Amino acid sequence: MASRIINHLSFKRTRFLQLNPFIRLASTMPNINTPAPGAREYYPLNKPAIGTYIDGAQPELFKPLTIKDVTFKNRIFVSPMCQYSSSDGHATDWHLVHIGGFATRGVGAICVEATSVVPEGRISPEDAGLWTDSQMAPLKRIVEFCHAQGTKVGIQLAHAGRKASTYAPWVKERVGHGASWISEENENGWPNNVYGPTTTPFSETYPHPKEMTEQDMQYVEDAFVAATKRSREIGFDFIEIHGAHGYLIHEFVSPLSNTRTDQYGGSLENRLKFPTRLLQRIREAWADKPLFVRISATDWAEGPEKAEDGTWLQWGIEQSNLWVDKMLSLGVIDLLDCSSGGNWSKQKISPISAAEIGHGYQVPFAESIKKAHPSLIVGAVGSITDPKIAESYLKDGKADVVFLARELMRNPHWALTAAKALGAKVKAANQYDRAW
Ligand SMILES: Cc1cc2nc3c(=O)[nH]c(=O)nc-3n(C[C@H](O)[C@H](O)[C@H](O)COP(=O)(O)O)c2cc1C
Repeated sequence: MASRIINHLSFKRTRFLQLNPFIRLASTMPNINTPAPGAREYYPLNKPAIGTYIDGAQPELFKPLTIKDVTFKNRIFVSPMCQYSSSDGHATDWHLVHIGGFATRGVGAICVEATSVVPEGRISPEDAGLWTDSQMAPLKRIVEFCHAQGTKVGIQLAHAGRKASTYAPWVKERVGHGASWISEENENGWPNNVYGPTTTPFSETYPHPKEMTEQDMQYVEDAFVAATKRSREIGFDFIEIHGAHGYLIHEFVSPLSNTRTDQYGGSLENRLKFPTRLLQRIREAWADKPLFVRISATDWAEGPEKAEDGTWLQWGIEQSNLWVDKMLSLGVIDLLDCSSGGNWSKQKISPISAAEIGHGYQVPFAESIKKAHPSLIVGAVGSITDPKIAESYLKDGKADVVFLARELMRNPHWALTAAKALGAKVKAANQYDRAW
């Protein structure tokens, strides 16, 4: 009897719902906590993605940007930051937490730290690497986590050149300035397998490098290509090539560090030869995806970039612009990430001292490159902390995106706090929404 009554009621309900499609939709749709699709475990779907502009005045910082087929939801990018926390070049759970923490807090993109394409290209023994297949799995886990949070993630591929085999910063600090910073063999280093464009060391506290042969260059190129292919397999959205901070590529382009007398040294054309060939080969393996290049726009050495007779004395903005011309004409760059320094041990960031480096102190270099190459997407970096000033860089056309490092370590929620300061409503993670 009871079951007949239930059946009857159920029939009546079905008829009612068939005749009222709206109610049918509402009452048959289960109120489940929607999972992020494709993730390897359950995470709630954030819709729109965390860090997406929703309402209020839309700041430039929160306008999406598309490069090739990748759309970044906003223009606040995490600058690459070495963590000196890898296990034989393999990313660890530290990296998952470090990168994952940014992925859940609203930035438009994250660039994973300088990741060496060969073991001896690491800055320190604990640096990240992508020279062998076993290094892919922990990175894939991180990339998949970022994607499940709706955040794009790329990797900075690097080779430290003559600045390899040194200590992590806090070990350097412990050892002190003026003492050797060389990580010796018994300290997990490889000081006898450090190479650069010449045999001149960065300073006396750094390893004495070997001068690279043509074969060495081919080997490094092949390693960059192999790491690029691995990056594709892992699922990275973009690659950034580290051409800054006095590492291998910067060492080749600067007349201060490249005094070779063969076809790879001397004239600007010669100094650009190896970096250009390298970028062309990387582009071949990464044709359809965004390719970023980070450069140092100056060596910050004393004196001018060029002598009166036209001789280049140090690396500077004039040659940076010429290099960008070349990269653009060859189609080997989609975004220029404009940094500075790191190649001259006696560098002086002028006219102010390093202790007084002001807000956006490298922005004038980004601006110069942007002005000379309006179609190129340019990133500014360096002591960018204030949301309103950061917004002005984009509004005034000085740059298209901002990269932040230290400020994001201090305040991983910077994107959301910046939105608030700029009067915009931006999506917070469902899980964190009650804080906003
Ligand atoms: C802990 C730390 C690690 C860094 N590691 C890298 C790196 O792997 N690759 C790189 O190009 N720059 C690296 N940098 C430089 C930053 O990406 C950034 O250019 C610099 O810190 C200036 O930006 P900021 O003032 O926002 O910190 C690092 C900076 C810090 C503080």
